[in-house]
Amino acid sequence: MEDYYSLAVQNLLSFRASLFAVIPVLLLLLGLATRLRRRPPYPPGPPGLPLIGNMLMMDQLTHRGLAKLAKKYGGIFHLRMGRLHVVAVTSPDVVQQVLQVYDHIFSNRPASIAIRYLTYDRADMAFAHYGPFWRQMRKICVMKLFSRKRAESWASVRDEVDDLIRMVAASVGQPVNIGELIFGLTMNITYRAAFGSSCKDGQEEFIRILQEFSKLFGAFNMADFIPYLGWVDPQGLNSRLVKARRSLDRFIDTIIDDHIKKRNEGGGGDEADTDMVDDLLAFFSEESAKVSESTEDLHHSIKLTRDNIKAVIMDVMFGGTETVASAIEWTMAELMRSTVDLKKVQQELAEVVGLHRRIHEADLEKLTYLRCTLSRRPSASTHRFPSSSMRPPRTL
Ligand code: HEM
Ligand SMILES: *[C@@H]1O[C@H](CO)[C@@H](O)[C@H](O)[C@H]1NC(C)=O
Repeated sequence: MEDYYSLAVQNLLSFRASLFAVIPVLLLLLGLATRLRRRPPYPPGPPGLPLIGNMLMMDQLTHRGLAKLAKKYGGIFHLRMGRLHVVAVTSPDVVQQVLQVYDHIFSNRPASIAIRYLTYDRADMAFAHYGPFWRQMRKICVMKLFSRKRAESWASVRDEVDDLIRMVAASVGQPVNIGELIFGLTMNITYRAAFGSSCKDGQEEFIRILQEFSKLFGAFNMADFIPYLGWVDPQGLNSRLVKARRSLDRFIDTIIDDHIKKRNEGGGGDEADTDMVDDLLAFFSEESAKVSESTEDLHHSIKLTRDNIKAVIMDVMFGGTETVASAIEWTMAELMRSTVDLKKVQQELAEVVGLHRRIHEADLEKLTYLRCTLSRRPSASTHRFPSSSMRPPRTL
């Protein structure tokens, strides 16, 4: 039994986009197997205290702090956070060893207690261990959930964008909070793609559930580092985790039941009309999850449980809303800072699209300057959409 862990987990969901966006060098934190028969020598690193190790240095685990430590201890160095061994890799040679040569060893994401619990013990795609289940899950996501065909059938995306434009147009002359509006937009789009438009009533409750999940993902939990202090739990995390997952169960189970009822009533029908719950239900099985890679037919090679469906929906909500929203917000902010670029983008839009109609997908090809602007946003260097989220899970 080996456990892979890293502190990167702490930053994961809410902070990850901003953190990764500014990291200048490829930085890798990887957990070391803690239970090797003969303890190998660790790489150099600052001396630690008994029991807690280097936990007092927790606040230095930013890209700048780690770069400073690397200057002192070298391109590969070691820290101990309670019982977790963390190795930071900054020099290109070592990074290559980890990402290429020994890729198979590191192709798993670490998961904190909260992550394990809230993903129904890695029943999702983002935290599933690298292997047959992960590969089939990825296939479902690529071929069913994110397919181009589906994207084009999302008339709802256009509806939502229209709503947003109307909202902005209605407040001409007054300041608008673009960040908030854009987040509302991506939230509304993803919600409709996941659950269909019939469930709009529950949206506020769902946002509350997501916010609590997000807080729990990011919360510092002593039990991740010193397990036998888990019972102290001063923040009441254990009961909050149970409560949060129970509210998600209550929420999504109703939606799943409605979708099953619709299917049984012979709905199914029009493929353009399906949402992600429908797509996932096509793989649903009341028994436990099954995976095999021996058959080409995806429908025969993987069966999903309710837990899988819930966990994948949460991946999509977390992966698709805040990240997309902050990419758009960054781009807008950068454009506002650079009047020259802003003018060029506006001019190009006026020439290619004109001022009297909406942009269509087909226009994008001709909007070269706009495309360059989008790919120059700060996170573009670490995230080549959509390939990055489709890579093997990694301790990255
Ligand atoms: C423009 C849109 C997006 C941006 C800017 C963005 C940004 C990021 C960044 C910076 C990371 C961490 C770095 C990395 O692993 O390479 C990441 C990871 C990830 N993204 Fe995206 N993302 C976007 C869209 C999406 C979408 C649409 C999904 C899924 C529906 C998604 C799912 C994920 C997942 C599952 C991870 C890995 C989780 C982790 O290890 O933190 N992302 N994204
Ligand atoms: C998102 O949906 C909610 C609820 O229907 C609505 O109040 C809000 O204005 C929408 N936000 C955007 C940006 O369209």
